[in-house]
Amino acid sequence: MSYIPSRVISNEQIHGNYFMLAGRILRKPRKSPLPPQFAMVWVPGVDLIPLSYAYYDNDTVWFLYKVVGEGTKALSLKKPGDIIALSHPIGRSFIPEHDPVFLVGGSGIAPVLHYTKYLNRFRGIWGVRYGELAVRLIEKFPKLKLLTIASEDCTYGLCGKLTDVLDKISLSRGDVVFVAGPIEMVRQVCREFRASHQGPVYVIAETLVKCGIGICGSCVIDGILLCRDGPIVGCEHFG
Ligand SMILES: Cc1cc2nc3c(=O)[nH]c(=O)nc-3n(C[C@H](O)[C@H](O)[C@H](O)COP(=O)(O)OP(=O)(O)OC[C@H]3O[C@@H](n4cnc5c(N)ncnc54)[C@H](O)[C@@H]3O)c2cc1C
Ligand code: FES
Repeated sequence: MSYIPSRVISNEQIHGNYFMLAGRILRKPRKSPLPPQFAMVWVPGVDLIPLSYAYYDNDTVWFLYKVVGEGTKALSLKKPGDIIALSHPIGRSFIPEHDPVFLVGGSGIAPVLHYTKYLNRFRGIWGVRYGELAVRLIEKFPKLKLLTIASEDCTYGLCGKLTDVLDKISLSRGDVVFVAGPIEMVRQVCREFRASHQGPVYVIAETLVKCGIGICGSCVIDGILLCRDGPIVGCEHFG
């Protein structure tokens, strides 16, 4: 796989262990990334990390990431001017024709940020642990106000986890639903909505990605290679 060198423009701590990195790509990708595609982000000397494009415009790319281990920690220490490298966009893009419904938890919001570039109307729920994260991200992406926020610390929007407030969302037959976030949340939402919703329910999936080109098999979900056929996978594979 070839990589595109990119210069870090900013790397801001949004809240807690959530960071947003903006980088200027120094060579054009074969195709501009579209949601919900992702990149393998190379942190020199440390790791390759799969991250969803959180935005892309005019040779500038944004990633929203949560620090969970060595690779994301090393990424969070990158300063303006530092060089990282990105793979060409991986996975299939999918922009629905009708206004979708997003049911997302935590860092699952990253690909939704990229959707805000292409969609003027959407709805759904974003579950966060701390309301402050939602406040900070809405400042940067005002279209997120279209989502209902549920915060576990009860400081913003509804009080509780996403899975506590699912009954606040009413779906019409045929609404396209996207689910993204921690795997247990995804499984629970898929179980509930597969039974009750008569329309497509998709997961913007995450799993272990190594080669990113469909060779190693590490990213397989129920027979589907996430890096080749994903990252959108039918909810039936998670229920
Ligand atoms: C297609 C795709 C898109 C992604 N997009 C984003 C994004 O936009 N923002 C973001 O914050 N994260 C995203 N992730 C998850 C991110 O890739 C991992 O958090 C990161 O690779 C962890 O690397 P690390 O070296 O910091 O931690 P590691 O040391 O590798 O892992 C630390 C802990 O996190 C767990 N972990 C690692 N990867 C995952 C995963 N994929 N799912 C669940 N648990 C995991 C490990 O089991 C371990 O417990 C995405 C993953 C995939 C596959
Ligand atoms: S990451 Fe190797 S096959 Fe998908």
